[in-house]
Amino acid sequence: MFYEKGLRNLSTSSTESNSPTSIAERRASYEEILRLALERGFFFPSAEIYNDSLAGFWDYGPLGFLLKSNLEREWRRWIVKYEDMIEMDGALILPKSVFEASGHLSSMVDPIVECTKCHNRLRADKFISEKTGLQVDERLSPEEFQDLISKYNLRCPKCGGELGKPSRFNMMFRVGVGAENADAYLRPETAQNIFTAFSRLSKTQRLKLPKGIAQVGKSFRNEIAPRQSLLRLRELIQAEVEVFFNPSGSFDHSKFEKLQNVKMKILSVDGEMKEVSDFSEAARLFGSEIIAYYFALLQRFYNAIGFSKEDTRFRELSAKDRAFYATSAFDFEINSGLGWVELVACNYRTDYDLSTHSKASKKDLMVMDGETKVLPHVIELSLGVDRTMFMLLDKFFRHEPNRDVLRLPPNVAPYLAAVFPLISKPPFESVAEKIYEDLKLQDFAVFYDDSGAIGRRYRRMDEVGTPFCVTVDPQTIDDQTVTLRQRDSMEQKRVKIGELAEELRRLRNQNVPGTITA
Ligand code: GLY
Repeated sequence: MFYEKGLRNLSTSSTESNSPTSIAERRASYEEILRLALERGFFFPSAEIYNDSLAGFWDYGPLGFLLKSNLEREWRRWIVKYEDMIEMDGALILPKSVFEASGHLSSMVDPIVECTKCHNRLRADKFISEKTGLQVDERLSPEEFQDLISKYNLRCPKCGGELGKPSRFNMMFRVGVGAENADAYLRPETAQNIFTAFSRLSKTQRLKLPKGIAQVGKSFRNEIAPRQSLLRLRELIQAEVEVFFNPSGSFDHSKFEKLQNVKMKILSVDGEMKEVSDFSEAARLFGSEIIAYYFALLQRFYNAIGFSKEDTRFRELSAKDRAFYATSAFDFEINSGLGWVELVACNYRTDYDLSTHSKASKKDLMVMDGETKVLPHVIELSLGVDRTMFMLLDKFFRHEPNRDVLRLPPNVAPYLAAVFPLISKPPFESVAEKIYEDLKLQDFAVFYDDSGAIGRRYRRMDEVGTPFCVTVDPQTIDDQTVTLRQRDSMEQKRVKIGELAEELRRLRNQNVPGTITA
C-alpha cells in the first residue's frame, strides 16, 4: 500500500530491494496480534504481576497510548470538529437515580446461572444455545431458562454439578460513596453524562438544533465472560456522539453534497446486503435523512483511518437485538480475522432519555427550536475505541517472508517517524539528535534509535507501524540531506533537512486510499 505516489519512482539508495507488490504476505492470527501487543507494549493485562489480576482489564503501554491518542484525534477531526459538535468530559461515577431513570438498573441485565457445586457462573442464554444448538433469546424469564435447563438435562460444563436457579445479573459496577456508602454506579455508557448535562449545555452554549454533543472516556460493564482481550472488556473506552434534533424539523440537504461520494453497505434484518451511494436510498433504508447523514460521517471517519467500504457494513438489528432505549439500531461492523465484529452501536434513541430524566428529576428538559418548544430526539454513534484499535492491528499487521510489518496509515501510526544516525558516532549522532529534537518540538511523534545495524532498526520500526525512517548518513554531512525511507515500499529518497518537517506533515495528512475529502 502506498500513501505517497511520488515515493514510488524516486531514485533510491536502498539496500532493500523488495517491492511490496511482489511480496507474499500473510495476515496475522489473533494470537500473533496479541504477541505483538504484549512484546512491543501496545497493551497488556492490568496488574499482571499478581495472581489475582482481573479478567477484562487491560493497560495501554506507550505504543497503545499513542495509537489511541491518534485514533481519538482523527475521530475529533472527521466527526466532532467537522460537525461543530461540542465535547464534554463527565464524571465516571453517577448516582443511582440516574440509572433508575435511564432504565439501566432494570434492563442492563444478563441472564445468569450458577453451579451449585463449584459455583461456576454462566451466561444462561449463551450456555443453553451452545449445548442445544437452539437460538435462545436473552430476554427469556428465569423460569423459562429453568425449563430449558431441565428439559435438556444440562449440567455444569466444568464439574458436572447441578445448576442452580437462573437469575438476572445487573452488569453495572456498584460503588458506595462517602462514609454513608451511598448507592452509586460506574457509568456503563458515557452517554448518560450528556443527557443529564443537556439542559445546562443547551443554555450555556446556546445550542441550536440539530447539535451533536460528544464525549470520549471510560465506561464500565461487569461482563460475565470477558474475552478476546480488547474485544470484550469490563473497563472500556467509548467515543460517543449524541446528536439532538427536532424530529419535526427539516434536514439541510446541502450537507449531503459534501459526503455524496461516501459509499456504505447495509445488511437488513431480513439478510439482504445492499450498497448505497445515493442519499435518498440511504435515508429510506436507515429510516431518515439525518440518520443517513451521520452514518455517512461515521463511514468517512473509518475510511480515513484505513478501512474501506469492502471491510465494513451497517447491520440492522431486529427488535430483540436492540438496546432497550433504541427504536431502531444498526451495528457498524468490520470484517476481521475473527469474522464480523461490532465497532459502533448506532442507535436511534428518540426522546427516550430526555423524557425519562425529565420525569424522574422533575426538570423541564425541553428547548426552543426557532419558535417551537421541543423535547429533542437523539441519534447516537457509540464507538468502541479499544475494539477499533484491535481491528487496526488485525487489518494492518502482516507477515512477509523477511519481516513483520504493521501497515498502519500515517495518521494513526504511534510514531510518524524514527530518526537514526547511520553510525552512532560524531558527527552523525549530533546531527540526528538535533533533527529529533526539532521534530519533537514541532509536535511530531518521533522515535530515536542509535543501536544495532540499520536494517535491524528498520525492522523494529516496521513491526510497530512507523511509516517513515529518517537516517543521517555520510551524504548528510556533505549536502544537508537525509534518507527518508518508506515502511511499505521500503523505498528511499533524499530530503533536505530544512524541508523534512514539511514533508512529514504532508505525508501524515494525506489521506489513505478510500478516503473521501470533504
Ligand atoms: N451508549 C450506547 C452503548 O453504550 O452501547
